[in-house]
Amino acid sequence: MEVIVVDNEQDGAELVADTICNLVAKAPTTVLGLATGSTPSATYAELCKRSEFGLDFSRTTVFMLDEFLGLEPDDDSLYLNSIRSWFTDPVGIPREQVHAPDSCTQDIARECKEYEEKIRAAGGVDLQLLGIGRDGHIAFNEPTSSLGSRTRVKTLTDQSRWDNAEGFNARQAASQALASSIDEETRSTWQPDPEQVPLHVITQGIGTILEAKHLILLANGSHKSDAIAATVEGPITSMVPATALQMHPHATVVVDQQAAAKLQLIDYYQAIHAAKIHLQPRIT
Ligand code: F6R
Repeated sequence: MEVIVVDNEQDGAELVADTICNLVAKAPTTVLGLATGSTPSATYAELCKRSEFGLDFSRTTVFMLDEFLGLEPDDDSLYLNSIRSWFTDPVGIPREQVHAPDSCTQDIARECKEYEEKIRAAGGVDLQLLGIGRDGHIAFNEPTSSLGSRTRVKTLTDQSRWDNAEGFNARQAASQALASSIDEETRSTWQPDPEQVPLHVITQGIGTILEAKHLILLANGSHKSDAIAATVEGPITSMVPATALQMHPHATVVVDQQAAAKLQLIDYYQAIHAAKIHLQPRIT
């Protein structure tokens, strides 16, 4: 596993955007696996800037890691709608090439099976971008998820519902029958409400994620430092699902100083990076 410690979130976003751009420039039909949540948003903003300078994403295919169950197709909190507005629509990836598990499915087992088949039919994921939960989850593989798991339904932990509650403020507004013209001051008083976050999700399994050719896990902030230390330096355990990355032949962890703060071998990781000779593989 390669660990790259960057000065701040923006540097991490630029590094990951560089990697994705290099890949798409070399292979326009690249299959990207994408995460949502707050961590990758700066990377997506960076990619949108790059596409304005002419990088063509129109032949790229995208598979989302996970999706909330039971949300309506027009719900802003749907991960598919988030990725469309943050990244895939602005850079011109046709919507039929952007895949997420169907949040409204009436046949979950079939939906999960077909999602796996779609990934396989596309030739697998070339580069999978991952965030990490403070409990070490990747996608929504919560602690004790099987390290061999495939796409399936998971029940979110209370912590994950809390951590996602902010993105559900619009639903809170709707549930409180507030008019959309509500002023900023009132809006700023809304408290995140975990009850607004669906309890169930469909998520790629850890076994599914490990089949991607390259994994990049991005993390920022001191609230991620325990999870990062356990992921990189702890024993492989389903209690910290991200430790499964240790078994992947090409996994890169990109962390800012705060998220890296509890790594015992941080000096070594920085020395490796500084001493790289041109024959050694880089993040790409
Ligand atoms: C979302 C996902 C999750 C998030 C994780 C961190 O698609 O896969 O694993 O990456 O919950 O979320 P943030 O980035 O909001 O801290």
